[in-house]
Amino acid sequence: MASLSNRITDMLDIEYPIILAGMSPVAEWEIAAAVSEAGGLGVLGAAGMTPDEISESVRKIRDYTSKPFGVDILLPNATASLADLARESRDGGDPNAKPELPQEYVQFQQRVYEAFDLADPGPADPPKDEAWQRLSTAERQNAQVQQIIDDDVPVFASGLGNPAQYVDAFHNNGTKVIGLVGNVKNARRIRDGGADVVVAQGTEAGGHTGRIGTMALVPQVVDAVSPLPVVAAGGIADGRGLAAALALGAEGVWCGTVFLATKEAHLDQELKERVIDAVDEDTIITRLYSGKTMRNIKNPLIDLWEQSDMHALPMGAQGAVAEPTQRAARKAGRIDLIRNAGGQAAGLVTEQLSAQDVVKAMAAQAEEVLDRIPSGALTS
Ligand SMILES: Cc1cc2nc3c(=O)[nH]c(=O)nc-3n(C[C@H](O)[C@H](O)[C@H](O)COP(=O)(O)O)c2cc1C
Repeated sequence: MASLSNRITDMLDIEYPIILAGMSPVAEWEIAAAVSEAGGLGVLGAAGMTPDEISESVRKIRDYTSKPFGVDILLPNATASLADLARESRDGGDPNAKPELPQEYVQFQQRVYEAFDLADPGPADPPKDEAWQRLSTAERQNAQVQQIIDDDVPVFASGLGNPAQYVDAFHNNGTKVIGLVGNVKNARRIRDGGADVVVAQGTEAGGHTGRIGTMALVPQVVDAVSPLPVVAAGGIADGRGLAAALALGAEGVWCGTVFLATKEAHLDQELKERVIDAVDEDTIITRLYSGKTMRNIKNPLIDLWEQSDMHALPMGAQGAVAEPTQRAARKAGRIDLIRNAGGQAAGLVTEQLSAQDVVKAMAAQAEEVLDRIPSGALTS
């Protein structure tokens, strides 16, 4: 039987080179713990978590499994809050300017309420942790990173941006660092910043994604950052995908979509079923939700946004466009209008499994595919 052991399994101290993508808010502690316990690496999607929430989740993962795991946050290099935009739009910059959504976006929200017969949900409840919300993006990132270090998390992953400024602190703590990229230029940046692993993510991927397909991207990134190990992402949902990634020179896979419909994923059952029902053409890239290009399972709200020809606000501010529409949809029970980030591999997800079943089946099928290669069966 072919072995799946390699530098990635050795470095991360795992059985299979299968990594659960740190999907926020889908990859909470339950699925991260289950994937690690099954022999892969579970990664907590902590982008939206406060340091206390990260610490609590890490404690729960450790209660469930003694195996290694990771924590993923986003390190975007440019975001702008509504307050920033309001300040910019006033000459001289008024630091006390009231954050207001530009009128055309308010009108778009009204169109959404009318089109889907939703009630305007009014202002959101004050956030649970107001002090946390008031921090700048950089202050929040620093606090999240400090918590990950304080909790001695074995693996850190950044889904956007470059972890370079934190690499020494992580390494001094014995934490491995993974950086996610969608092109060769950023792969070199991540390597130069000192990361231990580069994840090359193709456009097929669910969530924030770039323009290059996995098949073309992975070998180019392998060539660019060698001898640094590369992990492939985007469109990989079974053992055939894992074997193909290894053939491209990657040493592991970072998978999101295949885990979306699992029992442990933190996602509405209706949205899990939508992933199961989705076929290859059922995803679309949109800036509606975050201001950055994000691949989602299609829904009528995205259709309305795309048909509007509106430009998205920068990451950080665009959330204020989509957020009230999501609250309105939830109040009305219109789960079909809720964000459902997912990739082209959704067409390969046909039933609800446990996270353990996904990991074990992917490993077993990859071993079987690799076993067939020397016999020539792949070409006969
Ligand atoms: C629902 C969802 C949420 C995601 N959130 C994050 C995130 O918070 N941080 C991150 O690094 N990547 C995030 N991603 C992207 C994944 O890390 C990963 O690159 C992608 O899912 C891999 O492609 P696949 O979906 O085809 O398996 C998300 C993906 C999905 C589907």
